[in-house]
Amino acid sequence: MRVLLTGGAGYIGSHTALLLLQRGFDVIIYDSFLNSSSKVINSIEFYLNSKQINYKLKTIVGDIRNKDCLDKVFKDSINEANPIKSVIHFAGLKSVSQSVDNPLQYWDVNVCGTKNLLEVMSLNNCFSLVFSSSATVYGPSELVPIKENSSCRPENPYGNTKLTVETILNDLFLSKSNVWSISILRYFNPVSAHPSGLIGEDPRGIPDNLFPYITQVAIGRINTLNVYGDDWNTRDGSGIRDYIHIIDLAEGHIAALNYLKSNKFTYEIINLGSNNGYSVFEIINEFHRITGYKVNYKVVKRRSGDISISIADISKANKLLGWSPTRNLKDMCLDGLNWQIKNPNGYC
Ligand code: NAD
Ligand code: WQD
Repeated sequence: MRVLLTGGAGYIGSHTALLLLQRGFDVIIYDSFLNSSSKVINSIEFYLNSKQINYKLKTIVGDIRNKDCLDKVFKDSINEANPIKSVIHFAGLKSVSQSVDNPLQYWDVNVCGTKNLLEVMSLNNCFSLVFSSSATVYGPSELVPIKENSSCRPENPYGNTKLTVETILNDLFLSKSNVWSISILRYFNPVSAHPSGLIGEDPRGIPDNLFPYITQVAIGRINTLNVYGDDWNTRDGSGIRDYIHIIDLAEGHIAALNYLKSNKFTYEIINLGSNNGYSVFEIINEFHRITGYKVNYKVVKRRSGDISISIADISKANKLLGWSPTRNLKDMCLDGLNWQIKNPNGYC
């Protein structure tokens, strides 16, 4: 089955692409490479060749806002008698702080780009979509674990764009509910890397997120981790999050694709997390205990826009997709550090 991965060269897309190729899916990666490196494609191919796995992978450099370029990808596949059966739509911009500084860019890429994709899919009779949404859409919620039917009050432009796309997808589904099959995945905090150390997270510049920051402090690329506040209403005063291993998350996408294949004409919103909450201090201490690498830190004031706690209820993913994560914090720390040690400067 041929699957198109927009943003397939990015952090989540590349891990999902590798797993799909290992399972025999025919994959097209469509990416502008704005926030990723073409070296990730070499790493995916290197891994598959080293395991003597036959695979079908095509990479196309293109922007989701370029309708002609997107349309050609679908038309070419039809002409090859191997049409795209499903799309996993990862492409987008994901920095909360950048979205505050440049909201129009975020609306343009995340919302207008998605609208283009949906129009091109319709034109080419492809109606199966897995969409990358985010736990950010919930906003602050004291009620944890968070269920999919909890209220959504995003507090930044990035979250607004994700919730808007969810609304567009709902409207589209309602207008043609005998045509579309849509799965919206709300990720909590994806972390770590492929155990081979060949692919992983490679943020541009100073990382925004806790995990890549910790692994970069551990190897000495950054001096000190800033812990954003020890005065939150949590068990030790630092923020609590639901971290999920990137390979478990990638497995969740394959489960969603298979679900759409056997349950046509559905629209489902599904949390992907681990249902475990760890505080920042717990992560720092566990990382040291598990890996032996100490993480220097200092407590600074709260980061604007942060929330105290976020933990996923994943019972829907388990029930509908038959999916639940199998990797624990130890795997997250070891695989994340392995990637950082093998690639101290990322894909550079
Ligand atoms: P990423 O930045 O690593 O990957 C996104 C990919 O999209 C990159 O390869 C980038 O080059 C590409 N891209 C950006 N703009 C594009 C455009 N206009 N046209 C074509 N390609 C474009 O991010 P990621 O962590 O892999 O996230 C993937 C998706 O999951 C995003 O939509 C993100 O919002 C969402 N998400 C991520 C997280 C997270 O913590 N990583 C959490 C929740 C949701
Ligand atoms: C985790 C905890 C911080 C960095 C973000 C986006 C969200 C989603 C995932 C895309 C918090 C603390 C962090 C640091 C710290 N992405 N922290 N020092 O904020 O839960 O979610 O990434 O959809 O939209 O908002 O993740 O990893 O940034 O923070 O103390 O240098 O670590 O305050 O408590 P977050 P994070």
